[in-house]
Amino acid sequence: MDKAATATGVAPVLELRDITRHYAQGSETLKVFDNLNFSINAGQIVGLVGQSGSGKSSLLHIAGLLEKPTTGEVYIAGRNCVDLNDDARTKIRRFAIGFIYQFHHLLPEFTALENVIMPQMIAGVSHKDATVRAKSLLEKLGLGQRLEHRPPELSGGEQQRVAICRALANKPLVLLADEPTGNLDPKTSEAVHREFLHLIEDEGLAAVIATHNLDLAMKMHRVVNLEDGILKES
Ligand SMILES: Nc1ncnc2c1ncn2[C@@H]1O[C@H](COP(=O)(O)OP(=O)(O)OP(=O)(O)O)[C@@H](O)[C@H]1O
Ligand SMILES: [Mg+2]
Repeated sequence: MDKAATATGVAPVLELRDITRHYAQGSETLKVFDNLNFSINAGQIVGLVGQSGSGKSSLLHIAGLLEKPTTGEVYIAGRNCVDLNDDARTKIRRFAIGFIYQFHHLLPEFTALENVIMPQMIAGVSHKDATVRAKSLLEKLGLGQRLEHRPPELSGGEQQRVAICRALANKPLVLLADEPTGNLDPKTSEAVHREFLHLIEDEGLAAVIATHNLDLAMKMHRVVNLEDGILKES
């Protein structure tokens, strides 16, 4: 994978080609997507909207190599990842993809700082460099005074900010966020979203952010709408 080539726009950072996703439901088949196509370039921030059940999470899980499509191809930096084995997919996830879940999924027994250091050390960064990066990210999101707090000692908004820092820690090519502020009250959600967008722009990342909130989606560079298995630019 060539991060430099992608950053200069040679290939989209992420491309989904002719994706279908079918789930067996008793004797019936539920078709979530039929021939879905999508691509995103370096530095773009895309809002992904659609009603509950339209397939936003399924789409992000397929794009993030957490699930396989029924048919179709997922290119990360120009490389088709669908048929790679689990080890290779894990490696690509680790280096090229940042994932933020609706509920933070932080490790409760580790501090905020350790939660952001850990993915970097797994990727081979030294403890010293990982600490510098983790502190800088957490400080940018206003958590400079919360570094030693464990997730249960943080508010919901603070926990989501830590999860954002963790997803950004390894400087991924593309960030995928599944309603990252969906479980926060409207005021906190807006504040975290605003800081989140600034940080993504600051880092020059590509991001796909699923949200129910159209106002938030309108603040992004592009908005795509998922309806009846079809993805439309809006
Ligand atoms: N493992 C599964 N088995 C069967 N059906 C599934 C499975 N996962 C998702 N689905 C179905 O696929 C459709 C899309 O679900 P998905 O979770 O992607 O929607 P969503 O847009 O993220 O919804 P929400 O806004 O509520 O989070 C839904 O109809 C859901 O019931
Ligand atoms: Mg969802």
